Amino acid sequence: MSGNKKRVNRFKRNIDPLLEKFNASISFDRKLYKHDIKGSKAHVRMLGDCGIVKKKESKAIISALEKVEAEINTGKLKLNVSDEDIHMAIEKRLSEITGPTVGGKMHTARSRNDQVATALRLYVRDKIDEINNLILNFQKVIVRRARENVDTAAPAYTHMQPAQPIRLAHWFLAWFEMFERDISRFKDARKRVNVLPLGSAAMAGTNFSINRKQVAKELGFDSISENSMDAVSDRDFAVEFTFCVSMTATHLSRLAEELVIFSSSEFGHMRLPEPLTTGSSIMPQKKNPDGAELIRGKTGRLYGGLVSLLTMLKGLPLTYNKDLQEDKEPVFDASEQITLMIRIMTKMIDELSLNVELLSASSEKGFMTAVDIADSLVMMGLPFREAHGVVSKLVKHCSENSLQFTGADETTLSGIHPSLPQAVRYFTALDSADGKDVYGGTARKRIITRIKAIERKLNK
Ligand code: ARG
Repeated sequence: MSGNKKRVNRFKRNIDPLLEKFNASISFDRKLYKHDIKGSKAHVRMLGDCGIVKKKESKAIISALEKVEAEINTGKLKLNVSDEDIHMAIEKRLSEITGPTVGGKMHTARSRNDQVATALRLYVRDKIDEINNLILNFQKVIVRRARENVDTAAPAYTHMQPAQPIRLAHWFLAWFEMFERDISRFKDARKRVNVLPLGSAAMAGTNFSINRKQVAKELGFDSISENSMDAVSDRDFAVEFTFCVSMTATHLSRLAEELVIFSSSEFGHMRLPEPLTTGSSIMPQKKNPDGAELIRGKTGRLYGGLVSLLTMLKGLPLTYNKDLQEDKEPVFDASEQITLMIRIMTKMIDELSLNVELLSASSEKGFMTAVDIADSLVMMGLPFREAHGVVSKLVKHCSENSLQFTGADETTLSGIHPSLPQAVRYFTALDSADGKDVYGGTARKRIITRIKAIERKLNK
């Protein structure tokens, strides 16, 4: 009945169909139906317990709400634009079931302003828990791959130039640490999400003696908002959530970028699992890393959501303004996309095949043990800056003459510096790695210690 809806209140003319459509959020906020119903049930139970509505009425409303939920679950209840949003749609259907005299009491002592803030907080809390479980599962895969590759030598880069050899496990664990911080960031944000706004009503609080603690307890909120004006207009929790998602996406995107580079035929260090790549419509030789590329691509879009939310808030006067309805789509998009991104990346890392021979051969090239030779000179008493200069000359000589370090003859070496013949020896990539026997370094011992600590924590 778009545009022809009978309007209550003071309006003489019907709503313009264009505004009705523009104003409606039901096409997307239907995703909140379970959270809205959960919030309403707790609210109505409390109204009954406090004697604000009759116990009998409260029970009737709760069972009708359960019926509405079942109808939405099965698609039996059709949601229309004329219902404006999911909260109105649920209340309308409820009143059809209970009759308006009882159903009309549900909204006592609350407003859609505290209602919607409650539903969104419940939604975000659920998503945080879901995302953290997915990250944890991903971390288990990463650690398994690290374990398998403790003795795989690999080149590591700075500026995308071969820098120093590492044990490949160290590379896997580098990613692990980023996702570890992501989990803790989500957990920290969860504390600020898990605050009950219900009871703030439109913005001033309510004339009824409600029991906010009871509602908080039923809904699993850790605390209750301190200020009703703040509670109905605060969306920092949504900003924080989309930031946490954006940060996790950033980590996934960087990893995706490395997978794209290292699986290219130019590098050939790794191969992506075939089911997670696609063919080209024109070039039969292609195997495209679309999954990784989309993780990279979607990350930009998630930043967009974060910026939308910040921008929505920056000029907003207290308290509730309809602008706030724009909070939902970025939150929904962030949680839906990040979930897919983590799941795809988990599969890619789980089945990533590594060209161990090539990785090992590459880690012996590119003068990557230059620092080890310089450090040997330092251990013989040279100041580091001087040792650095000596090894630079050695690198210049060797690269001009297509030699490895050990290929340079004694006379040339002592010509560069008298201590150099003693400092230059053949470091295998793994020897070089094991020299980095410092907390957080790539030595075998250190990696094993870290893996064990992680495994203990993950198996807890
Ligand atoms: N659909 C609205 C939103 O998402 C619900 C709150 C409406 N409140 C109001 N005062 N119009 O923000």
